[in-house]
Amino acid sequence: MQISLEVNGERVDAHVPPRLNLADFLREHLQLTGTHVGCEHGVCGACTVRVNREIVRSCLVLAVQMHGGSVETIEGLSDSGEIADLQAAFRDRNALQCGFCTPGMLVAAQDLLKQDAEPDRERIREHLSGNYCRCTGYQAIIDAIETTARQRRERKP
Ligand code: FES
Ligand code: FES
Repeated sequence: MQISLEVNGERVDAHVPPRLNLADFLREHLQLTGTHVGCEHGVCGACTVRVNREIVRSCLVLAVQMHGGSVETIEGLSDSGEIADLQAAFRDRNALQCGFCTPGMLVAAQDLLKQDAEPDRERIREHLSGNYCRCTGYQAIIDAIETTARQRRERKP
């Protein structure tokens, strides 16, 4: 099937099998391998991307459903500088080890920080409850998000 969509601000036209999921489309057709695939059934959050400004699990969405839509991946968020402070906080706080979960964590964390400028730790935990990390432990990740929220508030005039 022929699809046309926007990916990280650029128009993409592609011919895809009807059953191809968005995660595989991004990784295999567009070489956007920052979107990771873990469980492949909507549980781990590694494949989280933004679709039409909302976060979704790209393993649960078909590429053909994106026709006419807009997708933002970790590469787009990173290249635009939108999450530079969040990435720095993850690095400073050692909030990643293998890094497999990190793209999905960052996309989900940014989604929270856009909704809530002052989330408490419970709210951060709740928002990230669908993103699994198998090696870092969650304390450092929550610390990094909390720190970023505080720094953003302090930077606001
Ligand atoms: Fe999509 Fe795990 S790979 S939620
Ligand atoms: Fe390894 Fe999270 S840093 S799974």
